[in-house]
Amino acid sequence: MNLIDLIISRRSIRKYKNQEISKDNIDKILKSAMYAPSAMNLQPWHFIVFDNKEIFEKIISVIPHAEMIRNADKCILVCGDSYKEKNESWLIQNCSAAIQNILLASHSLGIGSCWIAIHGIPEIVNKVKVEFNLPDGIIPISLISLGYPDEEISAENRFDLNKIHYNSW
Ligand SMILES: Cc1cc2nc3c(=O)[nH]c(=O)nc-3n(C[C@H](O)[C@H](O)[C@H](O)COP(=O)(O)O)c2cc1C
Repeated sequence: MNLIDLIISRRSIRKYKNQEISKDNIDKILKSAMYAPSAMNLQPWHFIVFDNKEIFEKIISVIPHAEMIRNADKCILVCGDSYKEKNESWLIQNCSAAIQNILLASHSLGIGSCWIAIHGIPEIVNKVKVEFNLPDGIIPISLISLGYPDEEISAENRFDLNKIHYNSW
């Protein structure tokens, strides 16, 4: 599949088969994340890979809307290093670029994923920091669930000429 078809066919997948994702594929996904662009090439990100069902329950207890991870094979907590990137807006933009690479790399490997919000919900940010012993200055941005898809969601048409402006609004 070419890159544009891959981008267009990616969907958030919330139902997963009971099938393991290999370490090799997780490494490919994380490598893709680390090749995202970042302001001044600071690469201010860290990734925590979870693959333990008991820990999944702990995650759900602090992030109730992450319930779909219960049948996922793995999930990745993407964190930003606020000492490395002091501008919070850029920190989030950098981590978001890494997250998008995770979603697309996963899709290219036939693995489904869903972006799960953390940053922007202060009480959940605080609970995640405590529960997972994040060092000072490390901010949880989002959780990504991963698993082989057990649902198929077709591509809808999102191309909207009304959203495109040339030279001025
Ligand atoms: C910043 C951000 C936060 C999101 N948080 C959640 C979430 O907490 N739970 C969820 O099920 N989906 C979440 N999503 C996925 C969106 O719901 C999804 O991308 C959107 O509905 C479009 O569907 P698609 O990903 O299949 O194209 C999030 C997406 C983004 C970009």
